[in-house]
Amino acid sequence: MQIVLGIPGGIAAYKSADLARLLANDGHRVRCILTEAGARFITPLTLSSLTAEPCYGANPDQGEWRANPSIEHIELARWADLVAVVPATADVIGKAANGLATDLLTTVLLATRAPILWAPAMNTGMWGHPAVQANLERLRSFGHSVVDPDDGLLACGEEGSGKLAQVPAIAEAILMYGSPKLRSLDGRRVLITAGPTREDLDPVRTLTNRSTGTMGLELARAFRDAGARVQLVLGGDLPEPWGVETVRVRSAQEMLAACQSRWAAADGLVGAAAVADQRPETYAAEKVKKGEGPETMALVRTPDILATLSAARRPGQWMVGFAAESEKHLDHAAAKLQKKGLDAILVNDVQRGRAFGAQANTLTPITAEGPQASLGPLPKDLLARAVVQWWARRLESLDSGR
Ligand code: CTP
Repeated sequence: MQIVLGIPGGIAAYKSADLARLLANDGHRVRCILTEAGARFITPLTLSSLTAEPCYGANPDQGEWRANPSIEHIELARWADLVAVVPATADVIGKAANGLATDLLTTVLLATRAPILWAPAMNTGMWGHPAVQANLERLRSFGHSVVDPDDGLLACGEEGSGKLAQVPAIAEAILMYGSPKLRSLDGRRVLITAGPTREDLDPVRTLTNRSTGTMGLELARAFRDAGARVQLVLGGDLPEPWGVETVRVRSAQEMLAACQSRWAAADGLVGAAAVADQRPETYAAEKVKKGEGPETMALVRTPDILATLSAARRPGQWMVGFAAESEKHLDHAAAKLQKKGLDAILVNDVQRGRAFGAQANTLTPITAEGPQASLGPLPKDLLARAVVQWWARRLESLDSGR
């Protein structure tokens, strides 16, 4: 892989040298961009010696910086399979979130079409500041990935969150995030359901669940990055991901209708939505008032989206579902695999609040051959990529076995 490693001015910059060495020793080409502040912490010579590639930037003190001809940012932006910013400082995060291009690194970040990964490191107070968090959220909404910092003793003497993640963990994230297009998915149409559904009782009340839709959204991004043409049928409030055709739905019935009209043209489907299993029997057009006596609500079952699509499946179409279980995970999930006629099911442990909204998560795939090696624990964006890689490999081996 060809990696551009941006190194802004933070004390953790010295760890970037180790990251560059690790990636270069692993056979990847690494070109570093040092910002002016970064160059106060480490030197271009360190980086060019470790990577056997030129180090880019400007170094007024030592006179050894490359000139920065106006076109260099475009060349680097095109050259990169991935751009990583390590350690990502509040300053560079803020600039990139707002589209500023004040030096070589920030111009490359704007010009590149490659995936961008941030590994922040800063003082705990700065890390927790809503401005920094809002900027990171904005970067995530552009499809960028963030390797969250660890907790620990910081260089400033404070204890807390803001310490650069472990170098091997950042290297793993870079390799997974920058993965090239996958043969078995490139150009394929993948339909993905994500998020909670909402079943309305009246104009103000609704039945729903604790799903945020993050995992489905990350899967949509990961399939997109693997080369698939993704259609996302999305419940909940998360913003639509870039580069993915998104249909907003509210109820299970709407989600089913949106899927049914797209299913025939799709090559495969991933059911990541947390579909409400019941809806109120009737919908009241006006707000329901409190009455005397016991309060009861009549519920009816919603359609099972996966089971319905599975029944209308044509040869060659594949289906992957999720199972949210709080006990006897593998048994319950294996039963769902069978009952819904799926090719694989990914088992989530929802006990103790895991899975719903949790940062790092683990998934165990089950196929007709039984449980497979678990994926994770990883943050959801990287876990989604691990799922996509696992499934693509499986599709390839099924293809070659035909
Ligand atoms: N699913 C679906 N339609 C439903 C319910 C679930 O398509 N009405 C899909 C989910 O998107 C998921 C899989 O089926 O991929 C399993 O969902 P889960 O909530 O774990 O199981 P349920 O079928 O709802 O069974 P139970 O609630 O009894 O565990």
